[in-house]
Amino acid sequence: MSNPSRTDALLHGGIPVIAVASGKGGVGKTSVSTNLGAALAARGLRTMLLDADLGLANVDVMLGLNAGKNLAHVVRGEADLKDIVLTGPSGLMIAPGASGVKRMTELTAAEHAGVIGAFEDLADEIDVMIVDTGAGISDNVIVYARAAQEVVVVVVDEPASITDAYALIKVLHRDYDVNNFRILANRVQDAEHGQRLYTQLLTVIERFLSLTPEYMGFVPEDAYLKKAIRQQRLVVDAYPLSKSARAFKGLGEAVTKWRRPVGPSGYLEFFVEHHARASSGASATNTPVKSSATKPGIDVAHTHMSAATVN
Ligand SMILES: Nc1ncnc2c1ncn2[C@@H]1O[C@H](COP(=O)(O)OP(=O)(O)O)[C@@H](O)[C@H]1O
Ligand SMILES: [Mg+2]
Repeated sequence: MSNPSRTDALLHGGIPVIAVASGKGGVGKTSVSTNLGAALAARGLRTMLLDADLGLANVDVMLGLNAGKNLAHVVRGEADLKDIVLTGPSGLMIAPGASGVKRMTELTAAEHAGVIGAFEDLADEIDVMIVDTGAGISDNVIVYARAAQEVVVVVVDEPASITDAYALIKVLHRDYDVNNFRILANRVQDAEHGQRLYTQLLTVIERFLSLTPEYMGFVPEDAYLKKAIRQQRLVVDAYPLSKSARAFKGLGEAVTKWRRPVGPSGYLEFFVEHHARASSGASATNTPVKSSATKPGIDVAHTHMSAATVN
């Protein structure tokens, strides 16, 4: 009763892990990850934001939070995930990445698996996880995009952003069998502009790939979003009535209605298992491209494998 969103999510049978990616950097991945995360948290979902842009961590800095330890310590076995998690607006949980630690940009697939596996400890305390990935097509992005049920591709109306978003989708789809994309138009003027941008990207995707990513929606260009950043706050928190804040709240509501995996052992096992397939190199035989590839969705048959397959 007091928590309709969570009940709603559970009724749908599972919880999503959402990777936020883009081709080009600087198009709004972190803004989307943080504000969407806080919007979900405000709806009562226990939301964990994983700052997986490991080499250039900025979620904690962006929010003016003081991260003592970070994921680098967890990977090195010097801290438990519990110890590094920060609390942001609306109770958003944040697992800070490793700032300026070069090593973190060079994690092996097994080490990435270690990061993901560490979240198992908190599985009972998380309803949804958002992963803020790095720009471009690094190992990091590939690993997390493959591990997630939904890959949100942020795009702005600039040729380089559209081209790079297409390139990212092409590589993830063609080489890594990722099909579950959703396009988010950022910094657009209005709904029509967002739709136009989506259609433009979709036209290219459909011409060259057998894939029809869904439109997630749009976030308008908003000076309040920038103002909030300067104040090291989130726009949904500092300026809840601004147009971008309202957009993020609408997107949060939409996310709770997405199709979800159904599995008795929970989403995190699915997350780890998916990742195991991503890093095992066995995906070509294990995951034939499904005829439903045009619909972002989950192959629930794969949700029951053990997390132990990671190593
Ligand atoms: N909807 C928006 N309205 C206005 N400015 C935006 C919006 N989204 C992003 N920005 C601007 O773009 C900058 C980069 O955004 P950020 O989320 O850090 O991108 P990324 O994580 O992809 O590098 C922000 O600092 C902000 O100035
Ligand atoms: Mg960023």
